[in-house]
Amino acid sequence: MGRLGPTSREENVPTDSIYTEALRRVSEEYVARNPRSMAIADRAARVLPGGTTRTTTFFAPFPPVLVAGEGSEIVDADGNSRVDYLNNYTSLVLGHAHPNVLSRAMAAAGRGTAFSSPTDYEVRLAEVLVERVGSVDQVRFTNSGTEATMAAMRLARAFTGRPKVARFEGSYHGTHDYTATPGAGIPGPVGELMVTLPFNDIPGCEEAIDQVADSLAAVIIEPVLGAGGVIAADQEFLDFLRQATVRTGALLIFDEIVTFRLHTGGAQATYGITPDLTTFGKIIGGGFPIGGFGGREDVMALLHPTRGSIQWGGTFNGNPVSAAAGIATLEALTPPVIDELNRAGEELVERIDKALEASGLPAGITGAGSLFNLHATAEEITDNRAVGRADPELTELLHLGLMNRGYFLAPRGMACLSTAMTRDELDGLVDAVEDLVSSL
Ligand SMILES: Cc1ncc(COP(=O)(O)O)c(C=O)c1O
Repeated sequence: MGRLGPTSREENVPTDSIYTEALRRVSEEYVARNPRSMAIADRAARVLPGGTTRTTTFFAPFPPVLVAGEGSEIVDADGNSRVDYLNNYTSLVLGHAHPNVLSRAMAAAGRGTAFSSPTDYEVRLAEVLVERVGSVDQVRFTNSGTEATMAAMRLARAFTGRPKVARFEGSYHGTHDYTATPGAGIPGPVGELMVTLPFNDIPGCEEAIDQVADSLAAVIIEPVLGAGGVIAADQEFLDFLRQATVRTGALLIFDEIVTFRLHTGGAQATYGITPDLTTFGKIIGGGFPIGGFGGREDVMALLHPTRGSIQWGGTFNGNPVSAAAGIATLEALTPPVIDELNRAGEELVERIDKALEASGLPAGITGAGSLFNLHATAEEITDNRAVGRADPELTELLHLGLMNRGYFLAPRGMACLSTAMTRDELDGLVDAVEDLVSSL
């Protein structure tokens, strides 16, 4: 095994945890079932730091190496098949290799994969977003959600002539310096341009916003915290934020990179809030790399190539293959399809909640439509602070235990549905949770 190869259980589990023994058993079972993935993880560790190219997808002892995905099922290098409840972190809303998405993407690719001039695909995808999202007059595409939030923040700073942007505790807007957790490699002055606000806390936000009102360019928020634990913002909280940003002259940016799956008009449509700018990603590329941002015409005008003040390029921006797959995906996501997916998600959350409660373990679940998150804490969760108090060993145990039972969720418990899932696969997850918790 390589020097930085798969992490041994002993390196990770404190010996005083009440879950240590169960975790050791579950981890051994996982290792025994995934020998080929382990061998590839060892090779990977020689050429990729820690064996991965995405910090978020790594978990100990090693993630499975995937070789195929179809519909709701993914298969790893050892031939294990699992129901994919993560769907590349919520981006594959129709599941893997959806026939129509694939054929539309392949047809686009067959006519050329990238050009140094616009294609009709990017125009059509922009039209679909403008038709669906009331607050969006115009759109620009990027290659990732990270670039989308970075561009939206630059736009807000240019439009207002102010330097600071406020974000929320537990929020995730990608990996660029302004949105990454302050730390190694991020210069101090970058942090000074950011303000962190408490989520779902009107008095706390009001005070913090008032302190920086004159220098605040924007407030960026996920209407449902995604990576932070699938925690929905309260209606009154978003109403307050809209008013507070109007009052202070800051722009309100909704990061809908995850939540766009919840309604054809995004979560903003369910809340009845009109932000100034919106960022997109994940599902709008139908499983291919993409990002995008859009909003008020007077703000977006700053990006006009001859009359605007902001230059924003990107060799693969508006990539025709991603755009074709995104159009096919959004066409399939009609209001009844989204309603049914959300309904199925809510029912699943209710059933898992009951199973966890009956187990007596300190564990719970949060959800919003087709998104949900298991939490190793019995606390009521309305912000990311409670998520931070979850038991890390129980979190790991739930994750690996479900992996061993054929269900793929994020290591931190985040998960989502795809339209490819069957009734049996939904029931199966409830059964797997019941079986897992009763084994503890
Ligand atoms: C809400 C949100 N914003 C931005 C991003 C960054 O998107 P990407 O990973 O495409 O850069 C993510 C990714 O998970 C996200 O969840």
